[in-house]
Amino acid sequence: MYIGIDLGTSSVKMILCDIKGTVIKSVTKEYPIYFPSKGYSEQNPEDWYEKTIEGLKELTEGCGDKIKALSVAGQMHGLVMLDKDDKVIYNAILWNDSRSVDECDYLNNTIGTERLTEMTANIAFPGFTAPKILWMKNNKKEIFDRCCKIMLPKDYIVYRLTGVFCTEPSDASGLLLFDVKNKCYSKGMLDICGISEDMLPVVYESYAPAGVVKKEICDLLGWSSVTVAPGAGDNAGAAVGMGVVGKDMCSVSLGTSGTVFITSDHFSVDNKNALHSFAHADSNFHLMGCILSAASCNKWFLEDVLKSRDYTEVEKAECNGENPVTFLPYLMGERSPHNDPYARGAFVGMSMDTKREDMLKAVMEGVCYALRDCVEVAREQGIAINEVRVCGGGAKSALWCKILANVLRVKVVKTNCSEGPSFGAAILAMVASGEFKSVKEATDGLVKVTESINYDEDIAKKYDKGYEKFADLYKCLKEWYKK
Ligand code: XUL
Repeated sequence: MYIGIDLGTSSVKMILCDIKGTVIKSVTKEYPIYFPSKGYSEQNPEDWYEKTIEGLKELTEGCGDKIKALSVAGQMHGLVMLDKDDKVIYNAILWNDSRSVDECDYLNNTIGTERLTEMTANIAFPGFTAPKILWMKNNKKEIFDRCCKIMLPKDYIVYRLTGVFCTEPSDASGLLLFDVKNKCYSKGMLDICGISEDMLPVVYESYAPAGVVKKEICDLLGWSSVTVAPGAGDNAGAAVGMGVVGKDMCSVSLGTSGTVFITSDHFSVDNKNALHSFAHADSNFHLMGCILSAASCNKWFLEDVLKSRDYTEVEKAECNGENPVTFLPYLMGERSPHNDPYARGAFVGMSMDTKREDMLKAVMEGVCYALRDCVEVAREQGIAINEVRVCGGGAKSALWCKILANVLRVKVVKTNCSEGPSFGAAILAMVASGEFKSVKEATDGLVKVTESINYDEDIAKKYDKGYEKFADLYKCLKEWYKK
């Protein structure tokens, strides 16, 4: 049996599956997220570890001796710092934290986007790791000076489980310290950040058998010998879990963040730098657009504002392209394609007859329009996107999937395992233990299409108009947000 762990932003989800890819059990454990100041977003790595161990215990009760391998897919870009005694010295600064605006200005404007792209294939966004390292250096010098190891969230879990200080290309790509084209650290970026390579994890393939679970942890969990693969960033993990590997495939994740993930068998950079150019967990590459708030918009509006937990209420609404209400989903600022930490959410177009349902649907539509912004950038580069595989909490909504198909003008496809990143992680663990020769061989054997949702030309035309209004609205508010 194999374990796939998804170290997410709101919880750690883990699945136990057999070699046929059947999910036998899953466990989810939540942990807090802290917003201690405007634009700050943090978590305590100790919470991740505690909850992971608690979950693994529950997950493998009674079958500990059957576990062969595990791997971890995790929230990307988070900065975890340890001192010389391997103690965490500051809360992890997460992917949706925007405190490093000044450091990004310095990197993009003083170092320059051209040089950054040459070194890393990417430009600076406040969510990325390198700007946060610079922020620590500029604002918490005494902590920065004590830092001996820098790692990403899922690498911390692997380190605690195995004692092996490792990462892999898909997550390392989001550090902005990694030369994605050559899959090694960029000396230039290390110098700019004032760190040395021995502070960073060794890069293995995502599916390499990088270590084994420590004896004392195996004893605690009742396991025998368990191989550990470094895993993947959560988006690459989700892509693997949906069979989005190799070239010219696309997936969309409707999770806390929303992503458009486009695979390629060769390295490339989008000439506007609006999409991230990252390595994939199958040894290939991908382009990715990331919107900072997706299913989290729905959760915020339903639970925090409307004080309801009935996610089915809006399902009665029709996907018809007709809604006078437009919603901008920028609750945490926006990454792709705007790179605008000042942007915020907006509802526009309400009248006295606006119903609750119109606003709930507008939230789903706004998220799909924001994803279309990313798809448009890819299409402008000549990339054809006609089919997307979908995962994440939002994909459970039939209405949301229909809206997505019509807004993006694509066929939306669902696969057998909706668990996304954790299923991808389990697949990487299977490859690491030698069950499959490659990630592609594993996904060909394990991932099946279960449902397809086509768009309707008349509805899509109406959504084209809605998208124009949406894009205009951001342009109108852009300067206002800055003020
Ligand atoms: C990707 C990104 C997010 C996080 C969410 O660049 O920042 O999708 O990985 O966990």
